[in-house]
Formats: sequence, C-alpha cells, structure tokens
Amino acid sequence: MSKTAELIIDGKSYMLPIIEGTEGEKAIDIGNLLETAGVTTLDFGYKNTGATKSAITFLDGDKGILRYRGYSIEDLAAKSTFLEVSYLLIYGELPTQEQLTKFSNDIKTHTLVHEDIKKILDGFPSSAHPMGVLASLFCSQTAFYPESLDPNRSSEGVYLSIIRSLAKMPTFAAWSYKNVIGHPVNYPDNSLEYSSRFLKMLFAHPAAEYDVDPVIADALDKLLILHADHEQNCSTSTVRIVGSSKASIYSSISAGINALWGPLHGGANQEVIVMLENIKKDGGDTDKWINKAKDKNSGFRLMGFGHRVYKNFDPRAKIIKKAADDVMTKLGINDPVLEIAQKLEEVALRDPYFIERKLYPNVDFYSGIIYRALGIPVDMFTVMFAMGRLPGWIAQWKELRENKEPIGRPRQLYIGQTLRPYVELKKR
Ligand code: SDX
Repeated sequence: MSKTAELIIDGKSYMLPIIEGTEGEKAIDIGNLLETAGVTTLDFGYKNTGATKSAITFLDGDKGILRYRGYSIEDLAAKSTFLEVSYLLIYGELPTQEQLTKFSNDIKTHTLVHEDIKKILDGFPSSAHPMGVLASLFCSQTAFYPESLDPNRSSEGVYLSIIRSLAKMPTFAAWSYKNVIGHPVNYPDNSLEYSSRFLKMLFAHPAAEYDVDPVIADALDKLLILHADHEQNCSTSTVRIVGSSKASIYSSISAGINALWGPLHGGANQEVIVMLENIKKDGGDTDKWINKAKDKNSGFRLMGFGHRVYKNFDPRAKIIKKAADDVMTKLGINDPVLEIAQKLEEVALRDPYFIERKLYPNVDFYSGIIYRALGIPVDMFTVMFAMGRLPGWIAQWKELRENKEPIGRPRQLYIGQTLRPYVELKKR
C-alpha cells in the first residue's frame, strides 16, 4: 500500500500520509485536514477513528487476538500472575524476580487507607452501588495526597501514585461492599498475596474464621489478568481524555471507573446474570429471548454478546468459559444459569441475525457466572472488572503523559439554528 492517500474534494486533490503500525495496521493521518482542505471528519462513537499511537495492547478483532506488550492473553492467563501482568503493562517488560518482589512489597506497604476514608464511606447509604462508592473513594486520594495533583512531578512521585492506586483499589473495593451489607470493614492482611488479600477483606467478618480457598484465589487472579487492558475501550479512552487535561492519575481513573459502570461496557457482566436469571424465571425458553434480542422494538439486547472490535470470538470469553467449567467442577457447583448461557450461545451462533452482525460472546458473557461461583456478590461484578482494568488504565495514562499528548478535544458538525435576532420576552 502507498504511503499516502489521495482525497479529492470539489476536484481538488489532497494527499494524506498513511502510517503503519508494527502489526501492519494502517491509519490515515487526518491531523491537518481542516487546515489544508477546510473539512473535518465525523465518526459517531469513534467506531473507526484512532485517537493515539499506543505500544501497550494489540487486538485483532477478526482473528480474535489479544496481546499485552506482545505476549498472548492465552500465555499470560495460563502462566502469569495479575501482579506480574500489571508490571508488564505499566513498564513494558516482564519483571525480573527482584523487580517483582520490590513491586509486590511496595504495594504491600500502601494497602492501608487513611482512617478518614471511613468517614466518607459512612456517608453512603447501604443502597449505594459499590461502583459509585469505589469511584468516590478512589478520587478521594487527591485530597489525601495533594502532591498527586501534579501529574508531571518526579518519576518517584508518579511511581508512588501508581503503587498507591494498585495497593488501595482492593481495599476500596472490599470496603465499598462492606458498606452495602452493613458489615465492619476489614483491614488488608499483607501476609497474603494480591487476590487472596482482597478475598479476605471482602469475605472475612468477626463472627467466623475465613480461610482463602486457593482455587478461588487462582481463578480470581486469572480473571483480573483477562480484564487488565483492552486498548482504547470506552473507559480507557475516558481515562486518557481526562488525563490529557493534566488531571491527576486518581481523578483520571475515577472517571474511568464511572465510564466502566455503564451497562453497555463493564456493567454488562452484572446485566448478563440479571438476564440469565430472568430467562430462568421465565421458564428457560432461550428461543423466545433470542427472538426478543433480534426484535429492535423489544428494547432487549443479549447482554454479553457483541463487541465493537471483536467480530470473531472474544479470546477472553473462551478462557473464562473454560475457567468457569473448571472452577465449578472443583467447587462442586452446578449453576442452572450456566446451562442457559451455553444454550443461548449455541442458538445465537447458529442464527443468521447474529452471524450477519458478527455477534459473539464477549468477556462479560461468562465472567458473571464464574464470579458467582466464586461467591462474589452480583453488585460487585463490575467492581471486579475495575480492579482488573486498573493496571491498563494506569499504563495508558502513563503512556499519554510520557508522550506529552495534547489535550483531547474532538470536533463536531453543527446542525443547530443559524444566526437569528433576539426577541424580547413580551414579543414572543
Ligand atoms: C465490554 O471496547 C471494549 O474493548 C470493551 C470491553 C473491554 O474489555 O473494555 O471489551 C468490555 O464493554 C464488552 C461489551 C459488553 N457489553 C455488552 O455485552 C452489551 C451488549 N452488547 C452491545 O450493546 C454491543 O454489542 C456493544 C455495545 C458491545 C457494541 O456496540 P456497537 O459496536 O456500537 O454495535 P451496535 O450497537 O451498533 O450494533 C450493531 C448491530 C445493531 O443491529 P443493526 O442496527 O445493525 O440491525 O448489532 C446489533 C445492534 O442492534 N447488536 C445486538 C447486540 N449487540 C449489537 N443485537 C442484540 N444483542 C446484542 N448484544
């Protein structure tokens, strides 16, 4: 392919540079189009608009490929740990044992949160959704660590903000749930590793001993790896655009948490379980619900199906589906909604509506089922997604800042009223 694209407007030719990525993807650089040709572009939902060049995650939607810093998601999910993957995403290379030990120990040093955070938590009613509490608690770090408001401060300062983010997210997450059930909060037990430490904070309570089941801890660690980054998705793009205004890492990520909460994005894992439970209550007639999903007027969508990029199987869905089978076998759990999910998948993948639109199960379709098998409450499913996505958000925010990218400010096509004179109130 040539290195330039030709655009002809009203008979005049404009040459636009074509740039190529390391995986052979090509993009037309339209940065000067307004100056040279006097036109801008329009792409609702940025379905085919690149906002940056990134070296963090590569997706191939047609081949169902997902790689973090060049390593396949299959390899990382099978062989790595969430903390190692977090280091890889943020710093670009797999850590040595010494680097990983220091990273883990630095995180352990900061797992406690300021006692005044409990006053913020106490202000939330027990009806508060944990995602709203999480976004608020995470952003409150701007108050306790005001030096973080300068995103360009020393590299040691940025490292400390990164460590604090990773260290305190599980504590905020567990506390946001304890607020819902009215239990006293637990403090982090640093004798445990990341996922086990979180599970104990989430489930332990004064009335009984709690020992972390390694099967559950391993499955959770794998799930966090699978959610760790996904290039320029809605919530990551939110983190980047907020970070582009030189907002702090804590406020940028708090914005990302809120974007993830939406049911079309990370909130879908909770919606999948609600949908499966409704189908079960309704008698389990999967054909009926597949037909509703195909009917535009029904207002019903098959949650956990479809993806902006994957037009083939979401590789994470395949791994999670198998992990769900493994965990339920090991724990001796038989969840009837799993059968409904498998039936829906089987029927949908044969149906022309889904085939024509290339709608396949995405990461959220089976994740809710495995979270439920792990005993994670449904209101916490999207919080788990946020915990997993945190290193990706951090890596993308850091890349944007290091590349000194400009403030994000998309254009628009104005379709409102043209100039008109003001009419006094008494004459309207
Ligand atoms: C995540 O971007 C990421 O990387 C996100 C994510 C990540 O890791 O960060 O992968 C995580 O958000 C996964 C997606 C979770 N959301 C859901 O499962 C909600 C259900 N799915 C959708 O609403 C939808 O598929 C999206 C939001 C995921 C993608 O939407 P698009 O790309 O904007 O596609 P669209 O809404 O324009 O749909 C295209 C067509 C439409 O039909 P037509 O108008 O062409 O006739 O497909 C139909 C849609 O009606 N369609 C569905 C459907 N998803 C799309 N029809 C029924 N059920 C569905 N789930």
